[in-house]
Amino acid sequence: MLQLNFKPFPVIETTRLVLREITKKDAENFYRLRSNKEAMRYIDKPLAESLDEIKSFIKYIDKKRKDNETISWGISLKESGELIGTISYHSIEKDNYRAELGYMLLPEYWRKGLISEAIPKVINYGFNNMKLHSIAANINPNHQVSRKILEKFKFKKEAYFKENHYFNGEFYDTEIYSLLNK
Ligand SMILES: CC(C)(COP(=O)(O)OP(=O)(O)OC[C@H]1O[C@@H](n2cnc3c(N)ncnc32)[C@H](O)[C@@H]1OP(=O)(O)O)[C@@H](O)C(=O)NCCC(=O)NCCS
Repeated sequence: MLQLNFKPFPVIETTRLVLREITKKDAENFYRLRSNKEAMRYIDKPLAESLDEIKSFIKYIDKKRKDNETISWGISLKESGELIGTISYHSIEKDNYRAELGYMLLPEYWRKGLISEAIPKVINYGFNNMKLHSIAANINPNHQVSRKILEKFKFKKEAYFKENHYFNGEFYDTEIYSLLNK
């Protein structure tokens, strides 16, 4: 079984970004992100409703990381240090050496190549440090941008589930992409 150790927190640097721990100081920006209708459009999860909810979420994320169960990085710009997004392995199947990748940015930071800077480093961490065998990404099939990004990083479409995700009174389809550690 996969043995994970996320202590100390694995900070990752890219040219313009620092991927680092999410702390309670980030609560306002994290709330802006998780309550933003545009950013949450294809996430198919409820919008954050309060700062308190986000503070509890930050505590939950921190506990899961300290328990070596999941890892979420806050994406911050080197120049300001402020949280502008998140990237995570938010679901890890230790028995299968497999983790699910998720990422999001505040809309004002879209289309600057920032997620394309973060993803290869996080993939590298997943394969070389965590020793994953595969990285999965689940998308809403209408999410053309996320599909384009996954294909750019050589993820292959593995499956199409029909109406497998229930949210807000509707059943949504899911496309599963994955990248193998070859
Ligand atoms: C998905 C997301 C993280 C992309 O981040 P980003 O930093 O804007 O992406 P990049 O600038 O690195 O762009 C990557 C590629 O997608 C393309 N792209 C990005 N946004 C696009 C858009 N709105 N329309 C068309 N193409 C787009 C870019 O042109 C680029 O292609 P290229 O490498 O061929 O030039 C961002 O749109 C987001 O946060 N969306 C909301 C959250 C979300 O849906 N997350 C994914 C859940 S599965």
